[in-house]
Amino acid sequence: MTLLGLNVDHVATIRNARGGKEPDPVHAAMVAEQNGADSIVCHLREDRRHIKDRDVRLLRDVVQTSLQLEMALNAEIIKIAVETKPDEVMIVPERRGEVTTEAGFDAVKKLDALKSAVDQFKQAGIGVCVFIDANMDQVVAAHKAGANTIELHTGPYSHARGDEAVDKELDLLETAAHRGWELGLDVHAGHGLNYHNVQRLLRQIPVEKVNIGHAVVSRAIFSGFENAVRDMKGLIAAAS
Ligand code: PXP
Repeated sequence: MTLLGLNVDHVATIRNARGGKEPDPVHAAMVAEQNGADSIVCHLREDRRHIKDRDVRLLRDVVQTSLQLEMALNAEIIKIAVETKPDEVMIVPERRGEVTTEAGFDAVKKLDALKSAVDQFKQAGIGVCVFIDANMDQVVAAHKAGANTIELHTGPYSHARGDEAVDKELDLLETAAHRGWELGLDVHAGHGLNYHNVQRLLRQIPVEKVNIGHAVVSRAIFSGFENAVRDMKGLIAAAS
């Protein structure tokens, strides 16, 4: 069955809006695990706009399932990751002005830098996932760099409107996923997935894990965080 990785960044975004202590992404992680999340994901950005260093340290302490740290290839963040030892890092590109991660990491262009980071993480016993666009060259490059997992960028699928456009994006994702599996990689998917589009994705492409944040935190405002996690988990279970 496809696993649910619960991204708690947006809990931190709400906390930081007032600069106080609540809601705490660490609390959210524990509640998410109690309600079916299979792993916890957080993104320590260079500008610390949501997750803070303290969150990563505490999450490492309390997360009982598996902690995935999303990060750019930045020397300071690499050092924090190696010291904190999440179960897995996910390499993403980062642009200061972006509202959220906009595109996949360019593993083809940045192969050497990626490979050297993968080597460091492997030596530290940390798994490596690379967030990439649904593109064959990117899949092959991520594998060449030594990553054990790819996360396919589902933003274009999530934004597509109309059956034809949606099917086109699904086909691209499916082709990339199959290439990843042929190479022995685990294949995850994420970005923009929600209660309306996750099942269609999983029925065509039964990836090992989906990472979801914004939709669950948004739904939690109306139905509570526990219900929001459980409902998402139920949709994933029914589709995979
Ligand atoms: N995967 C990656 C690489 C991301 O950057 C994000 C957003 O932080 C997600 C998954 C989760 O996306 P969303 O918040 O849209 O569910």
